[in-house]
Amino acid sequence: MITELKLLDLNAGKFIDEKVSEITDAVGDGIAINALSGGVDSSVVTMLGHRALGKKLRTVFIQNGLMREGEPDMVAGMFRKLGVEIEIIDARSEFLDALKGITDPEMKREAITQTFYKKVFGRIVRESRANYLLQGTILTDVDETVAGIKRQHNVFAQLGIDPQETFGYQIIEPLIQLRKDSVRAVGKALGLPEEIFARIPFPGPALASRIIGEVTEEKLTVVRKATSVVEKLLCESDAFQYMAILHDDRVTGMREGKRDFGRQIEVRCWNSIDARTATPTKLPFEMLEKLAGDIINEVPGVVSVTYNITSKPPSTIEAV
Ligand code: XMP
Repeated sequence: MITELKLLDLNAGKFIDEKVSEITDAVGDGIAINALSGGVDSSVVTMLGHRALGKKLRTVFIQNGLMREGEPDMVAGMFRKLGVEIEIIDARSEFLDALKGITDPEMKREAITQTFYKKVFGRIVRESRANYLLQGTILTDVDETVAGIKRQHNVFAQLGIDPQETFGYQIIEPLIQLRKDSVRAVGKALGLPEEIFARIPFPGPALASRIIGEVTEEKLTVVRKATSVVEKLLCESDAFQYMAILHDDRVTGMREGKRDFGRQIEVRCWNSIDARTATPTKLPFEMLEKLAGDIINEVPGVVSVTYNITSKPPSTIEAV
């Protein structure tokens, strides 16, 4: 049972000191690896690990092919400015191969977990002889996995999986008692720029969480473009999270007077504090029209754009 550390009870400075010394003590003379995805949680863990271990920490960004437009270079560039070197590891084909033919949401998550932890990370860990992996698991990830809602790609101990036995390394999770609001407060106290600590959440399985049905390169291109449009238009909305979801079925549309049996994008924009519950943001209709117009114009093959008006629960924030 993990005790929650609520934002109200959090002393960010004290928390940072405690976690830095816990990481230092746990790793000792060992070697630690850290996977940065650019999301808020892994960014905060990267800074904690960097403070604790300096150059003893190797931080990698796994390019899994499921990332947003320009994400690897943008994230590596931002951290370089903070004095943290990031290695980008190209594992695109491994992830795409693992996802081939899979349509079931939980099987997709499992394929990503296995490829990430066992195949790609296992290899990096073996090559660098690391014995520790730093990871940004937060309490919401644990809750939803244990409740059987979604198998979050980064939760093991709570499922009775021993990472040492299964993958050959130990996992250190400094943020496990926190929810997103507290993680942001720690990120701010660590001196991360607002563009990182206030970033909207982005899930570990990345754009695969936003493709219904099989994940293919072609579908990734569509959802990636639609995501860029949605993020550009909603970045000033103050919403907790916003995204584009690509549906699996096609609908009849028309372009230049001809029938076009095209793709459907669903836009979601959420108000939430900690992702446990969420309600759709009441966006002005003009904004919805702008979203539809820009997606149709900028994303080839899309003929229909819808807006989600269901709360979580029963919906979840991501579609997969
Ligand atoms: P759901 O879709 O379960 O999402 O309502 C709740 C919050 O968690 C994010 N999310 C994830 N984060 N690994 C993560 O690190 C995951 O596997 C994962 N799945 C969902 C989601 O973006 C939302 O903020």
